[in-house]
Amino acid sequence: MIYFLAAVAAIAGLLFGYDEGVIAVASPSLQHTFPMSPLEDGFTTAAVPLGALVGAILAGKLTQALGRRRVLMMAAALFAVGAVVAAIVGAVWMLMVARLVLGLAIGVAAVVAPLFIAEAAPLSIRGAMVSTYQLAITAGIVLSYLTGLLLGGEDTWRIMFALGAIPGIVFLIGLVFLPESPRWLVLKGRDADATASMHRLRGPGADVTAEVAAIRANVEAEHRTAERAPSILAPWVRPALIIGTVLFFLQQLSGINAVIYYAPTIFQHAGLDGHTTQVMATVGVGIVNFAVTILAMGLIDRLGRRPLLIIGFIGTAVTLLVIAVAVVEQDIFPSWIIVVALLLYIASFAISLGPLPHLMMSEVFPLSVRGAGMSISSCSNWGFNFIVVFLFPLMLATIGLAGAFTLFAIVCIGGILFTMALLPETRGVSLEQIEAHLRAGEPLNALGTRPAIAVAGGTRR
Ligand code: BGC
Repeated sequence: MIYFLAAVAAIAGLLFGYDEGVIAVASPSLQHTFPMSPLEDGFTTAAVPLGALVGAILAGKLTQALGRRRVLMMAAALFAVGAVVAAIVGAVWMLMVARLVLGLAIGVAAVVAPLFIAEAAPLSIRGAMVSTYQLAITAGIVLSYLTGLLLGGEDTWRIMFALGAIPGIVFLIGLVFLPESPRWLVLKGRDADATASMHRLRGPGADVTAEVAAIRANVEAEHRTAERAPSILAPWVRPALIIGTVLFFLQQLSGINAVIYYAPTIFQHAGLDGHTTQVMATVGVGIVNFAVTILAMGLIDRLGRRPLLIIGFIGTAVTLLVIAVAVVEQDIFPSWIIVVALLLYIASFAISLGPLPHLMMSEVFPLSVRGAGMSISSCSNWGFNFIVVFLFPLMLATIGLAGAFTLFAIVCIGGILFTMALLPETRGVSLEQIEAHLRAGEPLNALGTRPAIAVAGGTRR
């Protein structure tokens, strides 16, 4: 059941990726139907991250009140409706509204889907399971690029947008068959339902008593500490908040979406000729991103989060600098070096910076503020995503590709330092253990290195 749950919840990621990528490939045909001013064009593109920002803000409260599954069902319905409306609009303002609605659904789902998977997954495969969400994002991007390649032509944007309704409907149907998160049920005092849900997740015959007891003990400890549910701003929760928001800042300022949204432009700067070559190179970026994410899923629960992030940041920093130099010295460096470096950059991102922020934001927050904490982290994701995508054309026009990539490289070097100094290792540590560690006021980066703190109902490492 957990595999089915992860697969269904990950459809939200597919929609996330599809709607990110589709605008890049739909744009020329869209301009043909509705000639837009740069401002209208910019807003139509940015409507999704903007709607998602609002969705991310609402998601925490909604999911804490209504549960994980019900909120995802609402988002799935919005996805399907938004995609159909976006495909049939007769004016630009209607398209903007439809994309805002789509963004809203994406923003809500981007918080709740990884949360739902993390809360349902057994400890030993939690990293791999939550990373199916990132894999689905990368699959969505590839699908949108391929759709663009296959459907290239006038007025095809309507079909591209309409296709987004299909995963939306599949998502809704899949959710009907899933159990609610046992952790949310315990939080609401529904322990019997939580046990039933855990039985469905772990399979017939599995003994779930200890796991449910550990969750119950954890909820009680939370209430004892704060005498009421803790606030997201409580000092002991702050380290988690820093991890969640800074990881997404680093992820976005590594320049990933400059590459995802503007790959053809970048290849043009690299001296690659021909539209098809550029699009093929773009699909190459999409496929490397997807394939290396699969590799990451196998490594996350084995190698751990910290080593992977350090490797990833070193890889992105070095490749960005190579591209910056090669672009300036085009007489010395052939353009294939830029293509290879860009693909290695994507691989370094996908092995670590791609999946890990989504995974770690679902791990580090205490249960009763997990929704709120993930909302705030997700706002950091969408806010910085928006800023980079919006400013990148301006950066190209002012400091050029080399300048922009050097800035991104500096951020990645900062990422190495941040990971070494502050990032906890959450591999093999249960969500309840992470929370007990935080509540005890222990520095988060000591997690996974110090002797464990006792958690009622469960044995520590
Ligand atoms: C990021 C997206 C990005 C994608 C690329 C995700 O983890 O949040 O902004 O486009 O990775 O694979």
